Amino acid sequence: MFPSTHTRRFLKRCLALGLALGLSISAGAAQSGLAYLGEELKALQADPFANPGLLWVDRGEALWQAPPAPGVPACASCHGAPERLREVIPTLPRWNPATQRLENLEGLIRQCQSERQHQAPAPFESEALLALTTRLAHGARGLPLSAVVVPEAAPALARGEAFFRERRGQLGLSCADCHERYNGARLRGDRVSEGMINGFPIYRLTWQTLGSRHRMFRWCNEAVRAEPYPFGAEPYLELELFLRHRGAGLPLETPAVRR
Ligand code: HEC
Ligand code: HEC
Repeated sequence: MFPSTHTRRFLKRCLALGLALGLSISAGAAQSGLAYLGEELKALQADPFANPGLLWVDRGEALWQAPPAPGVPACASCHGAPERLREVIPTLPRWNPATQRLENLEGLIRQCQSERQHQAPAPFESEALLALTTRLAHGARGLPLSAVVVPEAAPALARGEAFFRERRGQLGLSCADCHERYNGARLRGDRVSEGMINGFPIYRLTWQTLGSRHRMFRWCNEAVRAEPYPFGAEPYLELELFLRHRGAGLPLETPAVRR
């Protein structure tokens, strides 16, 4: 479905000719995808009654408060209000020195579900996991994404950046081709943004639902006919780490609305 043959040819031609579409690589500070929306969607995101993503905030609040089974402590019994975790959100994903692995918000939630609540962790992209993720990230809105400064995370950060710049798929396009080189260009109905992650989970009209960062990565991989990775896969965690660093300073705006 996307990109169309026409779009594909157009992109290839641009690459071949080295045209920059009259747009320069963004030299200034990082910009949220919000800046690339039309007025209507900007207003929808800002509307505390009409933003469809807020439904998941409410669902997440209910899940947070409720014991998942009789006799099992609720998230709230151990953590109190979701806002008590707000300082952690902009520092995710992060390097865990004990496990020598990266962990993101979805991973931490699932870990508590299995280790602290002794329940089956909610599947990736399930309504429950999206709702809890959205509720926690919503509690941190306004806080800026933080730069990656832990030395132990440097190799993973470098791998994330390499992934971002590597050409892939049948179209041979890297994330950077679209989100740096051609950012601002129109691709079918979309205006290509800088590919920032400060609005996630996002409500995407194209999806008619809410989606995670990794769902977006999968969609963008498929857009260039590249094999997507599974949710929670290491290369996506590394990519997410790099995008957090690249967008450092951008305020969280969960749940963002996108086209
Ligand atoms: C063929 C061009 C293309 C490529 C290549 C591409 N994307 Fe995208 N991406 C898009 C379009 C179109 C959108 C939807 C409009 C927008 O938000 O930029 C998008 C959206 C996004 C968003 C959401 C931005 C927001 O504010 O909600 C992220 C994050 C993202 N892409 C990351 C990536 C990553 C990571 C890669 C490499 C794995 C990648 N993209 C490769 C075209 C592309
Ligand atoms: C039995 C108590 C308990 C329950 C129930 C519990 N957690 Fe946790 N959770 C912890 C402990 C202990 C930690 C690790 C120490 C810490 O950072 O507070 C933790 C860590 C976390 C973190 C990372 C916080 C950080 O500062 O690094 C998140 C996010 C989280 N939990 C979410 C949840 C969610 C969502 C639920 C419900 C699905 C939940 N937890 C249920 C005890 C619990």
